[in-house]
Amino acid sequence: MNKIPFGPTYEEMLHPEKADKTIRTKALAAKTADELDPINLFNITWKNEKNKVNKIVLPKALTGIDANVVVLLGTTFPSGSHKVGPAYSTLIEGCVDGTILPGTHTILGPSTGNFGIGVSYICNLMKYEAIVIMPDNMSKERYERIRKYGAKLDLTPGTESDVILTLQRTYELKKNPNNRTLAQFELLPNYRFHRYVTGNSCIEAVKGVGNGRVACFTSAPGSAGTLAAGDEIKRAFPEAKVAALEPYECSTLTDGGRGQHRIEGIGDKMCTLIHNVLNTDFIAMIKDDDCVRGLKVIHDAPAILVAAGISKTTAEGLRNLFGVSTICNIIGAIKMAKYLKLGPEDNVVTIATDGFDRYDSVIADLDRRYLETSPHVLERWYRDIFLKMEATDVRDTRGGAEKERLFAQKEKDWLPFGYAKDYLDQMKHQSFWDHEFAKIADYDEQIRTRR
Ligand SMILES: Cc1ncc(COP(=O)(O)O)c(C=O)c1O
Repeated sequence: MNKIPFGPTYEEMLHPEKADKTIRTKALAAKTADELDPINLFNITWKNEKNKVNKIVLPKALTGIDANVVVLLGTTFPSGSHKVGPAYSTLIEGCVDGTILPGTHTILGPSTGNFGIGVSYICNLMKYEAIVIMPDNMSKERYERIRKYGAKLDLTPGTESDVILTLQRTYELKKNPNNRTLAQFELLPNYRFHRYVTGNSCIEAVKGVGNGRVACFTSAPGSAGTLAAGDEIKRAFPEAKVAALEPYECSTLTDGGRGQHRIEGIGDKMCTLIHNVLNTDFIAMIKDDDCVRGLKVIHDAPAILVAAGISKTTAEGLRNLFGVSTICNIIGAIKMAKYLKLGPEDNVVTIATDGFDRYDSVIADLDRRYLETSPHVLERWYRDIFLKMEATDVRDTRGGAEKERLFAQKEKDWLPFGYAKDYLDQMKHQSFWDHEFAKIADYDEQIRTRR
């Protein structure tokens, strides 16, 4: 049996304290000392040095609702986004399966940015050559990070909504037998990572908040990996509802709509292969510029939040924690809390995939697009975007006809890439997903013994 690179099991990503003590201590020290030390693979976790989930419960003066909105913070992951988790999981599973060999294979990472950053980062740590395939019109901070971590960039025309072009390009590059793809939209390690690691972290995150349960989980799918957390949340709290969010301007899951939009990382004009639509109860549409303007308010105008009653420390602390898609997730949480009529004991959980560090250029672009962003304009944005957000544009997808519609969308998107109808049909049963999820035990055993 081949040895594989030294990295954590799924269990150690959920419970980093279960790793060997010396490794855990070294990993925590490397986090600030040297982000390119391979021991940082053991920092792929939602937990902090005290083994608690990195999270924030949003001030009610920001959300304007009674329910608690709990946001898990992805910016604390190595490389600055939780997308490093699926990138690592897909690579390590390939090593275990013997399909990805160090020194032999080059890794392809089709992405709109954060997954590409994650791929370039772990390939640096695990000593693989990497090529990130992504649209050429994403925020410039993303390309800078990928180059910094040493991957090559292969750019396709367009923006977020043109991710299908990256898949087509990857399909071409895959014909080279030395290339191996970390196919986030298709491969189930992404599902396994988020169902196990993110899902259980969400369950831990609500302990001591409200009634300690999750009433609703909101997440805007790119690959739909994060949405898999909902499967585990429902296992723990069967009453929990899962809402997938998408841009109003690119309403693929709601009604097949396809358009350009400004929320980088989500709304990729498809129902991804790994999206378990059985557990998606609602789809809500969020206007893209609300997310960019909402980010501007939180990042540039903490004084407005302070005037609304939020402490200066909290308002300042929020400034760098979120990206554009986080604001989408937060607006979605507010919308769903209103739609579901949630009260003060109820918790809505959502995710901050990344932080502000990759959005300066997006805010600079907003400043160019708007004639005026004076404090009174931002104050109005704060009220309109957060406090007055309405429970509109929500579609109930719990019925059989809705599921069939989403299955049909998935077939339309994936049969052209060579997937068999029979395989897609298996995904219509929860047993398919549970069977895939159960593989974690075997992968963990293999990682432990062979690393
Ligand atoms: C900024 C951002 N938000 C949200 C997402 C969506 O996460 P997922 O791919 O798990 O659905 C991504 C994915 O790349 C992202 O980069």
